[in-house]
Amino acid sequence: MYVDLQVEIGVNAKVPLTLRNPVMVASGTFGYGTEYARLIDIQRLGAIVCKGITVRPRRGNRGPRIVETPGGMLNAIGLQNVGIRRLVDEKAPLWVQWDVPVIVNIAGDTVDEFASMAGQLDGVPGVAGIELNISCPNVWEGGRVIGEDAATTAAITEAVRARTGLPVLVKLSPEVADICGVARAAEEAGADAVSLINTLVGMKIDTRTGRPVLANVTGGLSGPAIRPVAVWLVYAVSQVVGIPVVGMGGIASIEDVLEFILAGATAVQVGTATFAEPRTALDIIDQLPDAVCARGRASVHELRGLAHSGRDR
Ligand SMILES: Cc1cc2nc3c(=O)[nH]c(=O)nc-3n(C[C@H](O)[C@H](O)[C@H](O)COP(=O)(O)O)c2cc1C
Repeated sequence: MYVDLQVEIGVNAKVPLTLRNPVMVASGTFGYGTEYARLIDIQRLGAIVCKGITVRPRRGNRGPRIVETPGGMLNAIGLQNVGIRRLVDEKAPLWVQWDVPVIVNIAGDTVDEFASMAGQLDGVPGVAGIELNISCPNVWEGGRVIGEDAATTAAITEAVRARTGLPVLVKLSPEVADICGVARAAEEAGADAVSLINTLVGMKIDTRTGRPVLANVTGGLSGPAIRPVAVWLVYAVSQVVGIPVVGMGGIASIEDVLEFILAGATAVQVGTATFAEPRTALDIIDQLPDAVCARGRASVHELRGLAHSGRDR
């Protein structure tokens, strides 16, 4: 049986984004896509979200920047990236030759920085969308504080919307008092989708030295350990917004993807699991048609949000 995997993001954007399947790879876990192009057939992915980009290049935090934890990992990369100018000059010309859409994840310290980067990306061939990282926990002066507040989220989204016709995804932090309020603020300000969740702040102490393992002291927790939190927040947010919800957090298998879709996600992103097995997202894509069929449906849309009470089964 033919199973429709296609999903649309940004139906109201000037340049809507059609994904051939709902499985993307998450920002910060897939570089600029080029790194994995030698390992797997990246063109079959739903989309690639590139590493978070800032106005100026960043070398990131000093090491150790990564440590394994039960069911996941902590990272404190500190937004190491080439900067927006080199991204436009050097990366986008490669992406334009690809079938797979590339969404650029941007992280500003101010509303103006977000708006200026969005303006620089607008109309650049090879850039299919923009994801606003208003929730990165590792840059003290930046995203975290911004994403905690619905009013600032709205201000950033509105300023970005005014500068670009590209689909805009707003990436939310799980560490806010009212994530539904923040999601609604993003939608009302013109977001085409919300992505959730970013990492949760955590720390690990080396009992031998008595010191934190990460040089940054804290890091962002990702991987299966955070999946139940992510599934719940996708479930909650998808009931209060009309725009697509892109779910992520610990996805490593087809079962995990189904869980997010049943919770209300239109699309998903695979992050940390790619480090252990670069083929994870592709394996999931291969298994998706049969998984949808096995549940008696002809498209992924039909499974979306079925976990919500009151929906037809
Ligand atoms: C090493 C690493 C770097 C990350 N860098 C970014 C980033 O630059 N921008 C961003 O929005 N999210 C970043 N994230 C968060 C992921 O995109 C994702 O939201 C989070 O890890 C949860 O998904 P996962 O459990 O499947 O990894 C990063 C995650 C990891 C593990």
